[in-house]
Amino acid sequence: MQSRILIVDDEPNILNSLTRSLHCMSKNWSVHYSLSVDEAKEMLKSAKFDLVISDISMPGKDGFDLLAHIRREEATKDIPVLMLSGLSDRGLKGKALDMGASDLLHKPFDREELIARINSMLRLKEYQDKISAQKVLLEQEVKERTKELERTRLELIWRLGKAAEYRDTDTGNHVVRVGYSSRALAQCLGMSEDFAEKIFLTSPMHDIGKIGIPDHILLKRGKLTDEEWEIMKQHCKIGANILEEDITKFQLSQDVGKALSSECFKKTSNPLIRMAAGIALSHHERWDGSGYPNKLAKEEIPLESRIVSIVDVYDSLCSARPYKPSYPEEKVLMIMEDEKGSHFDPEIFNFFSKSIDIFKGIQNKYSDNSQQSVMTSSSTSEMNFDIEPNDSVLSLCGF
Ligand SMILES: [Fe+2]
Ligand SMILES: [Fe+2]
Repeated sequence: MQSRILIVDDEPNILNSLTRSLHCMSKNWSVHYSLSVDEAKEMLKSAKFDLVISDISMPGKDGFDLLAHIRREEATKDIPVLMLSGLSDRGLKGKALDMGASDLLHKPFDREELIARINSMLRLKEYQDKISAQKVLLEQEVKERTKELERTRLELIWRLGKAAEYRDTDTGNHVVRVGYSSRALAQCLGMSEDFAEKIFLTSPMHDIGKIGIPDHILLKRGKLTDEEWEIMKQHCKIGANILEEDITKFQLSQDVGKALSSECFKKTSNPLIRMAAGIALSHHERWDGSGYPNKLAKEEIPLESRIVSIVDVYDSLCSARPYKPSYPEEKVLMIMEDEKGSHFDPEIFNFFSKSIDIFKGIQNKYSDNSQQSVMTSSSTSEMNFDIEPNDSVLSLCGF
């Protein structure tokens, strides 16, 4: 491919002389001319060049103006510039190099030397172009890999949440709706986008600990005994352990062990996993301190758990389950309003009920029969779920 060279000089004689000098290279070089700096700028805007050769002394804008312009513009900043000068002022060369010129030749120039210098600059430009192209490719690859990792992370997190649901009952897109609704409620509260995104990713894992509840309790038809109920309650601590436990203590292959021995993994300092573990542990705590497993009260309960607690109950009451129909909205809101200040953080609940249309929208969009379903459950077993020893509607739903 021919290299494109732009020569800028206000004297037609010099341009003619340069044309003759460079003619022998016409097979490799495509040479273009300009009689002024302004015209040269226009040419640089409309086409790519591999080298600019410019006279310094020109009427109006001079070669230094052009050099400054070339170095300033993103599209031209890497083009080598060879300055030409008829003046023998030694300071000119220093100034030209300081401003980013590749070299300066005094007129009259030696033809062989001119060609040698041009060749050397074009070679350098070619290497630079190759490195830049490789950098762009690498950046693109890193971007794609990062996107892929992000997609994988999101998918794994949600599928982990879904794993718990599969063992439980036919709860369809429950974890998906809890994810979207938790994010929406966090946004209604004015929380940061970072917090909203984290709660979106982690809230679907709130019941991951049910994986550790024995089948005869988790899948039991009918009410649980007090003893069984105590075991069922352990799903909170089991979930937190699954997510938070120090995984370096496990016997892993040498390479994986090394990778996991970093501080980050030892202390489970990953903020996402820590939030997920916190939600798994305390999503059944209650504002008045009567919840489980740690009987935390008010602000002792992490904010994210207070948010998830509200949307989890709302979704369970709105959804049909094998042991209960879906309740009409008025009834759901009436039940939940009664729990404000005892079960739910009253302030957060007020934001929730004020924005109820948003949560209704999420219910509809990700309903269990919706095409929007991110994950679908195939389980149709009829089983009871988390049933407490009393008969209240909330306890029927496991709260
Ligand atoms: Fe739960
Ligand atoms: Fe749930």
